[in-house]
Amino acid sequence: MDSHTASYRSFLKKSAFPARQHLMVLLIIDKQTSFLACQYLTILLNIKALQKRFFFMNPFKFGAPVEGEYYLPRPDLDKLVYQFLSNRIHVVLIGPRRFGKTSFVFNLLRKLETEGYTAPFIDIFNITSHRDFLQQILRALKTKKTWTDNAKGWLSSWKPKISADVDHSTGQTSFGLSIDHSNSEKDVKEMIQDALASLANLGNKVVLVIDEFQKITELNDGGWLEATLRTHMQQLRNTSFLFTGSKKSLISDMLNNSSRPLYRSCQCIDFPSFGEELTDWVIHRFAAADILVDKEPIRILRKMVLDTPNYVQMVCFHLVAAGYKKIGTEEVKEILKSVVRQNAYAYQTLLNSLSPLQQRVLRLAAIEGKQIFSKELLNRYEIPSAPALSSSIRALKERGILDEEGTGRGTVTFDDPLFAIWLQNSFQIQ
Ligand SMILES: Nc1ncnc2c1ncn2[C@@H]1O[C@H](COP(=O)(O)OP(=O)(O)O)[C@@H](O)[C@H]1O
Ligand SMILES: [Mg+2]
Repeated sequence: MDSHTASYRSFLKKSAFPARQHLMVLLIIDKQTSFLACQYLTILLNIKALQKRFFFMNPFKFGAPVEGEYYLPRPDLDKLVYQFLSNRIHVVLIGPRRFGKTSFVFNLLRKLETEGYTAPFIDIFNITSHRDFLQQILRALKTKKTWTDNAKGWLSSWKPKISADVDHSTGQTSFGLSIDHSNSEKDVKEMIQDALASLANLGNKVVLVIDEFQKITELNDGGWLEATLRTHMQQLRNTSFLFTGSKKSLISDMLNNSSRPLYRSCQCIDFPSFGEELTDWVIHRFAAADILVDKEPIRILRKMVLDTPNYVQMVCFHLVAAGYKKIGTEEVKEILKSVVRQNAYAYQTLLNSLSPLQQRVLRLAAIEGKQIFSKELLNRYEIPSAPALSSSIRALKERGILDEEGTGRGTVTFDDPLFAIWLQNSFQIQ
């Protein structure tokens, strides 16, 4: 083997060509053109290195459900939820926003589907009416082939109330479902019942997910949708229901109040926070981007964002984007501060929409955190009385700014931990 061939070989080893292609390249390049070819390939490799440097994928993601390598599995929770669902015990997962409920459910559904389950996913976070609810069920169902095969008869009975696009040349229904806006509320309710009943046609293993389940309580329908769901939860022998929700008190009342239709209909599971496995996973993800970090800075970050995975990933994303090669506590604090600053406009607007008393209550809650009913603190934050503090806290919880969790008297938690940090940075006397 001459020196040129040896240098191709070592070069090709470093390149991305598979072994079989190496051989072909070696065969087709004759010795005269070897020098030029080597130069050309070197340029290609340099371009690849540059691409890696400038277009590499950040190993962190936030702001939307995550999957694959961006998702840290929760095997114990998988097992627990699976046990219930496979025994037709309906489940409600309750946990704060941005903790990973939707990501968890997507991940679980993928596994269930490999085991022959059909698992429609209904997102009702933005619904405002029964019609919206129906629209979301149909959106979820139309992605399921077994349903579309069975639903043609059902849909034609609702014609022209629901329109489905039929391709006349092939006879295929493409389900450009749109709900006729002239439908009466009575029709919409009947269609919801029919759509739920049609789950019976999805095969013998079905899991129906309703994400952000507490929204159904905001429809002000005198419990009609709750009662309708309860009926189908009892009647559908092939379907287990999986609900997720973030408003603990709303959901607890729905399930534990004996006068409500869903009383004791589900197994409640508190969505767990991650333990040390999150710290290890984050370090491992940084390593994928050739970045060194110890456990301590990540532990501090987790504590500051109250273990919210979304914010852990968000801060880490920005740490990678900032180009650090080694990360310590200082870098973490610096980036967290700048992330909070980026949200300042939204926080300012939110604060200005509140009464002066509520604003002072938020300052008190963010800066002091506990013992907030003490006389001395009420004085310092110009809050006239303990009942005034209680009623402000109630109003702030109703607006979703303070959390339902941690309702023990004297401590409050923020729905958005970054908002609390922003308040501390803005009002704390250093
Ligand atoms: N299992 C997980 N592993 C890693 N990051 C996660 C995980 N679950 C959630 N996250 C982070 O939290 C963010 C929000 O997740 P999401 O599932 O939308 O939460 P929720 O539905 O509770 O509001 C994701 O974008 C991701 O950054
Ligand atoms: Mg969600």
